[in-house]
Amino acid sequence: MKAAYFDAHGGPDVLVVGELPDPEPGPGEVIVEVEAAALNHLDLWVRRGLPGLNVALPHVGGSDFAGTVSEVGRGVEEWRAGDRVTANPGLWCGECEWCLRGEHSLCERYHILGEHVAGAMAERVRVPSGNLLRLPEGFPAHHAAAAPLVFQTAWRALVGRARLKAGETVLVTGASGGVSTAAIQIARRLEARVIAVTSGPWVEAVRAMGADHVIDRDLEDPSTAVRELTERRGVDVALDSVGEMTWKSTVGSLARNGRLVTYGATTGAEGCQDIRLVFWKQLQIIGSTMASHAEFVEVMGLVFDGSLEPVVDVVWPLERVVEAHERLEAGEAFGKIVLTP
Ligand SMILES: NC(=O)c1ccc[n+]([C@@H]2O[C@H](COP(=O)([O-])OP(=O)(O)OC[C@H]3O[C@@H](n4cnc5c(N)ncnc54)[C@H](OP(=O)(O)O)[C@@H]3O)[C@@H](O)[C@H]2O)c1
Ligand SMILES: [Zn+2]
Repeated sequence: MKAAYFDAHGGPDVLVVGELPDPEPGPGEVIVEVEAAALNHLDLWVRRGLPGLNVALPHVGGSDFAGTVSEVGRGVEEWRAGDRVTANPGLWCGECEWCLRGEHSLCERYHILGEHVAGAMAERVRVPSGNLLRLPEGFPAHHAAAAPLVFQTAWRALVGRARLKAGETVLVTGASGGVSTAAIQIARRLEARVIAVTSGPWVEAVRAMGADHVIDRDLEDPSTAVRELTERRGVDVALDSVGEMTWKSTVGSLARNGRLVTYGATTGAEGCQDIRLVFWKQLQIIGSTMASHAEFVEVMGLVFDGSLEPVVDVVWPLERVVEAHERLEAGEAFGKIVLTP
C-alpha cells in the first residue's frame, strides 16, 4: 500500500511517501481503507522523536482518519466490509483498574494510534473493532477525520475535568490550534464567555468562531489584557497547551478559586510557579489527556449532528505530507490539516 512514513527521526524531510506491506487484521481487529486522515501536533512530536518512545521503523503516523471497512478479523461480528467509519485513536488494555472504571485515557498501558503503533497516513490502517464509530449517511470523510483526537481532548478537558459552567469565563490559549478550535466551540455551547489568545494572522478567524474577546499575543501581554477584560477579576477556567512560554501568564490570569486545565507543552515542559499564588487564590491545576471512550462517543455525536464542526485548514493529497508537517510546525494552519491517500 501507499503510505507516508519515516525511517529515522528528524525534520519534516525524513518523511517519504512510498510502498509498505498491507496491514493484516488480527483477532478483533479491522482494516479500514482510508479516505482522509488528519494531522495532529502529536505527529510532529513522534516524527522528531520523544524520549522513551520507541517506535518500530519504518513508522506510519496519523491518529485520525475516516474511511471504509475492507476486512474484518476473527471474532468481529458488528462490522463488515463497506461500513463507513471513523475511530477513537486511543488504545487501552481493557483490564487495568482504570479501564475497569471506564477511564480509558488513564489506562496503565494507554497508547495512541500513530504514536506507538502504525497510524492512518496510508491507504489502509489496522484498528481494534471496538474503537470504530459509524459515520452518518453522507457525512464528509474530511470532517470526520478532523474530529476524533482534538474533540475528545477538548471535551474531556472542559466538561469532564474543568466542569465548565454557563456564565463562567474561560481563557483558551493557542486559539488557532486543532484542540483549541474545538474547545472554543464546546465552551460556547456550554454558554461560557470565551477569551481567546492567538497570534496576529488568526485574530479575525478566532473572533468569527464566536470567541467573545480575542487577544493578539503579538501585540498585547495576555495576562494584562485578561485583567482588563475581566475588571481585574481573572478567568474561572484557563485551558492551555502552549506550556512553558505562557504558563506563568496563564496561571496569573486565573480568578480566585480558578481552574487551569493543562493538556500539552508545545513550547516546553518546565513551568515555574510561585506556590503562594496557588494556595492564596485557592487555584486548581488539573491535568487532562484524551478521553474515555464514552466521552469520545458523546462528543462525536455532537460532531455528527452538526452541533460542533471541525475546522479544516486544507485538504491535500498525501504526497504533500512534508509540506503539511512544515505548515503545522510553522503555526501556519488554522485548525486541521487533512491528507487524502
Ligand atoms: N494530552 C492530550 O491528550 C493532548 C491531546 C491533543 C494535543 N495535545 C498537545 O497539545 C498541543 C496542541 O495540540 P494541537 O494538535 O491542537 O496543536 P496545533 O494544532 O499545532 O496548535 C498549537 C497552537 O499553539 C499555539 N502556539 C504554537 N507555538 C506557540 C508559541 N511559540 N507561543 C504561543 N503559542 C504557540 C498556536 O496557536 P496561536 O497561533 O493561535 O497562538 C498553534 O496553533 C500539542 O503540544 C499537543 O501535543 C495533547
Ligand atoms: Zn487499562
